[in-house]
Formats: sequence, C-alpha cells, structure tokens
Amino acid sequence: MLPRAEADRQGLSYDFVGAWITLQIHSDLEAVGLTAAVSRALSEARISCNVLAGFHHDHLLVPVADAPRALEVLAELAARNRDAPARELMLRSEDPSDREAILALTAEAFAISPATGLPAGGEPVEVGLLRALFDAEEYLPHLSVVAVQDGEIVGHVISTRGWVGDQGLLGLGPIGVTPRLQRQGIGSALMRETIDRANAAGEHGIVLLGSPDYYARFGFVPASTFGIQAPDPAWGDYFQFLPLALWSGGAHGTFRYAAPFSLI
Ligand SMILES: CC(C)(COP(=O)(O)OP(=O)(O)OC[C@H]1O[C@@H](n2cnc3c(N)ncnc32)[C@H](O)[C@@H]1OP(=O)(O)O)[C@@H](O)C(=O)NCCC(=O)NCCS
Repeated sequence: MLPRAEADRQGLSYDFVGAWITLQIHSDLEAVGLTAAVSRALSEARISCNVLAGFHHDHLLVPVADAPRALEVLAELAARNRDAPARELMLRSEDPSDREAILALTAEAFAISPATGLPAGGEPVEVGLLRALFDAEEYLPHLSVVAVQDGEIVGHVISTRGWVGDQGLLGLGPIGVTPRLQRQGIGSALMRETIDRANAAGEHGIVLLGSPDYYARFGFVPASTFGIQAPDPAWGDYFQFLPLALWSGGAHGTFRYAAPFSLI
C-alpha cells in the first residue's frame, strides 16, 4: 500500500483508492470473532472491505467514498456491543479436574504479592499453599469455589477448617481473580457465595487476612474485636472476622489455620 500522494509523485498508476481505518481494539485471541463481526456489519451495509489483521490492531481498507458510512456502521456496532448484557458468570464447587487451571490462575493473580506490592519472583507462595490445601485434612470440597465465564476458570476462592479453641471456624484464602478481569465484581461474587455456602453449611464464622478496605464491604471486622487473635500479632487489623448466623460468641483465643498454612 502506498499513500496516494506518493503514488502521484512517482507517476504510478492505480485503480483502487481506499480509506485506511484502524480498529482501536486490542485484537488478540480474546477478540476472536471481531473480524467476522466487522466484515458482516460492513457487507450488510454493502461496503466492500479488505481486512488487514495486525498483532495489536486490525486495519480495514474501504473504498474512500464509503469511508464516512463505514465509520457510522462501526460506531453502531460498537454501541450495540457496549449495550450487550455482561457475560454470564457461573459459580460452582471446584472439581479435581479444575486444579491445574486454578493453580495457573492463582500464579497469575499473585504474581505481584499483595502483601509487599513486589513481583513474587518465582512461584508465588499461594500456589504451593493451595496445592497443599487440596490434599489437607482440613479441605472442605463445598468451600472451594470457582468462577467460570465462557467455559474459562476466571476466579477461585477456598476456605478450610481452622479453630479457636475447640470451636471450628473457616479460614478463607487464597482468593484470586484472573488479572485482566479484576474489578468487575468476580471477587465479590466469590466472597458472597462463600458466605452463603458457609451459612448454609452451619458454619459459625470466617477469618481471613487481607485489606480491611476490601473485606469490610462483606461485613468483616478486625478479628480482635471478637477476641480472636491472629497467629501472628503483626497482622493487626488485617486479620479479620465475619460472624455467621450461628455465631454464639464465647470462643476466644488465637486462631489456628489448617496445617498447610504453617508452611508459608
Ligand atoms: C482481591 C481480588 C480477589 C478482588 O477481586 P475482584 O474481582 O478484582 O474484586 P471486585 O471486582 O469484586 O471488587 C473490586 C473492588 O475491590 C477493591 N479491591 C480489590 N482488591 C483490593 C485490595 N487489595 N485492597 C483494597 N481494595 C481492593 C477494588 O479497588 C474495587 O473497589 P471499587 O469497587 O470501589 O472500585 C482480586 O483483585 C485479586 O485476585 N487480586 C490479586 C490477589 C489478591 O490480592 N488476593 C487477595 C489476597 S487477601
């Protein structure tokens, strides 16, 4: 392809003058179907179109006279997609055949350590922890929950048995969401599902270690306000507790996580 002015300057003859339109969409595998949708919309509008698929962006060549109408058609297509309902999220119990995908997702989610804000450097500790939790006595199958979108596992949360004195409670974590899909409500959906399932299973309360800014929205408060101490006092208010419907109070002391937590 040559700019028309350049062809004129060199005295070259040509018979197709096209307008070059660049689609401002990152077109990797997630956008499979994009080219087809664009070609369909343009051919329905009887605009001929030559698609140049690039690594980051796709480009379209349309007859120059059709360019303004092509832009209108593309704007309509974009508006239709913006208004399309959000892709459905399904939450279900983890199946052992999901585990490789869950571990890969966890490695991605914790590649930057939430504790330090620095790259984990090698396999994040949460991956080894999760592997061990799957095989632990304290594993509770109904409380290892995956979020699935378009057949892909995009989030996971696990809660395992822990104790304060003789009182069985739940220790929640790790929880992770595929980085490119974070901040779209998947983590919140996993949290709410865990709380619902825990209540339905007759659990008494859930502890976790995490940002109070995030978990307060689900009702978590510093565990110390209930007399439940963190295994490491340095965790302070990051060690949080959510009393469930059956919580009757009375259990005080230091929380004991499932055995694999002592490995990290
Ligand atoms: C934490 C995590 C599971 C949340 O899932 P998510 O799908 O991104 O969360 P949601 O979309 O439901 O909620 C997003 C909200 O939570 C907030 N949020 C997410 N992580 C947060 C954190 N660590 N501290 C404070 N706020 C946080 C976001 O700012 C956003 O707030 P807004 O609704 O006011 O914009 C996800 O971000 C993740 O996998 N992070 C990396 C691993 C991790 O940190 N796990 C938790 C360790 S305790």
